Amino acid sequence: MPRPSRSFTRDPSVAEHKLAPGTWKRVLSFAQPYRLALSIFLTLIVIDALLGAAGPLLFRAIIDDGIANQDTRLVIILASVVAGLAVVSSAVGLIQRYFSSRIGEGLIYDLRTQVFDHVQRMPIGFFTRAQTGALVSRLNGDIQGAQQAFTSTLSSVVGNVVGVTATLTAMFILSWQITLVSLILVPLFVLPARFVGRKLATITRERYALNGAMSQTMTERFNVSGALLVKLFGHPDEESRVYAERAGRVRDIGVTQSMYQRFFMSSLGLLASIAVAIAYGVGGVMAAQGTMQVGTVVALTAYLGRLYGPLTSLSNVQVDVMTTMVSFERVLEVLDLEPMIQDPVDPVSMPTGSIDVRFEHVGFRYPTATEVSLASLEGVAKLDSHQTEDILHDVTLHVPAGHTLAVVGPSGAGKTTLAGLVSRLYDPTAGSVRLGGVDIREVRQGDITATVGVVSQDAHLFHDTLRSNLLYAKPDATDAELIHALTNAQVWPVIERLPDGLDTVVGDRGHRLSGGEKQRVAIARLLLKNPAVVVLDEATAHLDSTSEAAVQQALAAAMHGRTSIVIAHRLATVRDADEIVVVDAGHIVERGTHDDLLELDGLYATLSRTQFAGDQVTAA
Ligand SMILES: Nc1ncnc2c1ncn2[C@@H]1O[C@H](COP(=O)(O)OP(=O)(O)O)[C@@H](O)[C@H]1O
Ligand SMILES: [Mg+2]
Repeated sequence: MPRPSRSFTRDPSVAEHKLAPGTWKRVLSFAQPYRLALSIFLTLIVIDALLGAAGPLLFRAIIDDGIANQDTRLVIILASVVAGLAVVSSAVGLIQRYFSSRIGEGLIYDLRTQVFDHVQRMPIGFFTRAQTGALVSRLNGDIQGAQQAFTSTLSSVVGNVVGVTATLTAMFILSWQITLVSLILVPLFVLPARFVGRKLATITRERYALNGAMSQTMTERFNVSGALLVKLFGHPDEESRVYAERAGRVRDIGVTQSMYQRFFMSSLGLLASIAVAIAYGVGGVMAAQGTMQVGTVVALTAYLGRLYGPLTSLSNVQVDVMTTMVSFERVLEVLDLEPMIQDPVDPVSMPTGSIDVRFEHVGFRYPTATEVSLASLEGVAKLDSHQTEDILHDVTLHVPAGHTLAVVGPSGAGKTTLAGLVSRLYDPTAGSVRLGGVDIREVRQGDITATVGVVSQDAHLFHDTLRSNLLYAKPDATDAELIHALTNAQVWPVIERLPDGLDTVVGDRGHRLSGGEKQRVAIARLLLKNPAVVVLDEATAHLDSTSEAAVQQALAAAMHGRTSIVIAHRLATVRDADEIVVVDAGHIVERGTHDDLLELDGLYATLSRTQFAGDQVTAA
């Protein structure tokens, strides 16, 4: 039995969608590596369709030539041919399946690897805009959908076209009158089917949306932080009521959907039965009158069973094809998104040894959504293209090799933004950032990563063992090197006590390291990488004073002998810096040593009275 119901639940409005120019050509280019497999596959589909159409002719020959002439030998031969064809047909089906899955899975592989590679190279601005969950599910769904272009859609189109043509040709030759009558019935069915299809498409879409909303609610509420928020602030009854309402709607839609589908299948069956009745009626009368042979009547009715399903599928072929093309288009759209930050064509090599950091008249604003993202990934129809305002204005500074620069300023002043420019997370909109005298836009991104080490407020560890997390910084490090780095980062005693030691799984769902321990592991990771420049962005901000002392010690090891930029809100760190710059609203408003700045009695003096107040007591 054909499955027109699936195809009819697709959104018919998709047929009006305008594909981007060149999409067809590019889709074909994806098929290029599978040319041979595709031609074998299509040949097999044609053979299968023709074999299927041959069956009723054999029945006719058995009845009219064999039984009517009492030729038992012919009957046995023909029956064996029917059996033989069935065997061939199953074998063909099996080989066909092999090729279709090889093409389909191969295509999924191609698209997946390309998309992963591409998205990974996107600048950080892309990830701050795109919702990761939406991105992942969208890409998975679209890749599956695109893959169907070459397997189910193409095979059903080719198979049905060949099948229907062969069936209709045979039927016309057998009896054009009965064939015409059975074709007249088709519109009677296709029109209502389209109506039902549109209804099905609408409620199917609503069902998807509701299911999406429900699983979103569950993932958001059923994790530790979400659950805690519900416990502390929540209205569990209200949450349950909203959830039940959605679940109830899904239940109702499910029932309606089943009824529509059943109605669809019953109508198809009914149509075929009525057509068979007509064929027996008209053909039977003709056979009784001797103007038609009995075998012909039987063959005609057998053909009728093969006619309506494929015909209805073909009537919806435009929607099927466009659905897969749109999936393809959405995958291509992601592949086409140019990363804003790319390696230069002709990279300069990064100087080796100690490296100074220089900002020359750097201005910066965050890119707008249109510059880094795609509307379809953000769940909005149109991207916000409003120019954002400048975050940094004419920042000029120099950190000589081996020196420490402290950056202080009120929250939101632009300190983290400034630090991010050193690693080329973004490109400045004016001026330049130089490492060892070279504009960082002229070197490979890999070289920048190797030169600059960053520790931020919330260091991230992958859900993996401590060892793999550390090896991420230096894949060929020996255990002795790992332990050395962990020791310098003041965290080895803690890890040594863990039952699994370096094999302890940490990260999102792993062993809970305390905030301070996690920071120190992150510092060990940085020590392993051994970068010439370190950037510490409030690395101790979230810690209590005991952990902070240990992390401070680890940080001292990290900064030792390196060019350092330290964003700090603790007096101890700031006081020892070679130079301090004070940032306010994106401007450097003061610079100098601790003593200079206190004497100046400006923003720094105020900050040190408020922010550092607690420290001063202990420091004094
Ligand atoms: N990804 C972003 N996109 C747009 N604006 C941002 C982004 N990150 C930070 N900002 C804005 O830039 C300004 C400076 O932020 P930030 O550098 O984090 O300040 P600080 O680290 O000094 O507290 C803030 O006004 C903040 O809202
Ligand atoms: Mg910050």
